[in-house]
Amino acid sequence: MPLVAMRQLLDEAAKGGYGVGAFNVNNMEQIQAIMEAARETQSPVIIQASRGARAYSQDRFLYHLMIAATEVYPEIPVVLHLDHGNSPATCKSAIEMGFTSVMMDGSLMEDGKTPSSYEYNVRVTREVVAMAHAKGVTVEAEIGCLGGIEDGHGAGGSGMEHLTDPAQAEQFVKDTNCDALAIAIGTSHGAYKFTKKPDGSVLKMDVLIEIHKRLPKTHLVMHGSSSVPKELQDIINQYGGKLKPTWGVPVEEIQLGIRNGVRKINVDTDNRLAITGAIRKVFMESPEKFDPRDYLKPAREAMKKVVMQRMIEFGQAGHAKDFTPIPLAEMAEMYKKELATA
Ligand code: G3H
Ligand code: 13P
Ligand code: ZN
Repeated sequence: MPLVAMRQLLDEAAKGGYGVGAFNVNNMEQIQAIMEAARETQSPVIIQASRGARAYSQDRFLYHLMIAATEVYPEIPVVLHLDHGNSPATCKSAIEMGFTSVMMDGSLMEDGKTPSSYEYNVRVTREVVAMAHAKGVTVEAEIGCLGGIEDGHGAGGSGMEHLTDPAQAEQFVKDTNCDALAIAIGTSHGAYKFTKKPDGSVLKMDVLIEIHKRLPKTHLVMHGSSSVPKELQDIINQYGGKLKPTWGVPVEEIQLGIRNGVRKINVDTDNRLAITGAIRKVFMESPEKFDPRDYLKPAREAMKKVVMQRMIEFGQAGHAKDFTPIPLAEMAEMYKKELATA
């Protein structure tokens, strides 16, 4: 089946009360790992590429790999989503290339570092919503800023510095008509999220619950949602790595989020850890090997295992065949009607 609009996947997830993992990719092995996990668990799935991933893969390589994924796994509904678009121009180029969903992250300025004003965020998000919806493409926006920096992107800090204000989130959705909203509730990108196991009071789940009360129809997005499992850290360190002790977001907290309107859960770091651990193991145990397949195959397998586990935990497993994909042109018509009746 062709690439699917994210709005449809998230609408279905809302009906079914489950969440959908959005996994970052840069290359063929990562796409294959996700698609195999989706087939094995019969999951609809969101595959996302950052600006860094698009540059690394020269964009078109990634796009054609994604088309290959839809051909090899025709039974799996799959979304191609732009992660953290930094400007309307970046979103435009993604839409032109065939992404079926884009994130306009106007919580930061175009440099991807400086927290922006509310007015700036509304202006750029509205611009992207108009451009994307005309083509049936979904828009994720962000209000409040995550912590941490990944590949030069991010406000930095602990994740507690720019939490989302629920009243502002409500106004923002009215002002922009975005389909999905990323909120800041204390998570941050990367491996170093918390210096001890976070208990229920560390993540601001009360903020999330309040946002969901105010915006029951908006699909909420949790970024920085890797759990950074100790087992994956241990494999890396056992085979010569140097990770400092760290804690991620407990899966139970994500599941609490899913019961309160979270429909998209972003995971990148856990897969990076799984891949790195598997490659380090081969390098240490079999230093005579030099065929890339000897370490890329176990790396792909290790990532598939993590993705499968998350698909089951988020509840998307078993839902691949629940719906017939709506073509983007029909999605565009739906948005027109929504506007006319608003
Ligand atoms: O939000 C960040 C994602 O983990 C992607 O990271 O910009 O290093 O590709 P990246
Ligand atoms: P992690 O670094 O926790 O995997 O978060 C990824 C993310 O939010 C991508 O947008
Ligand atoms: Zn993110």
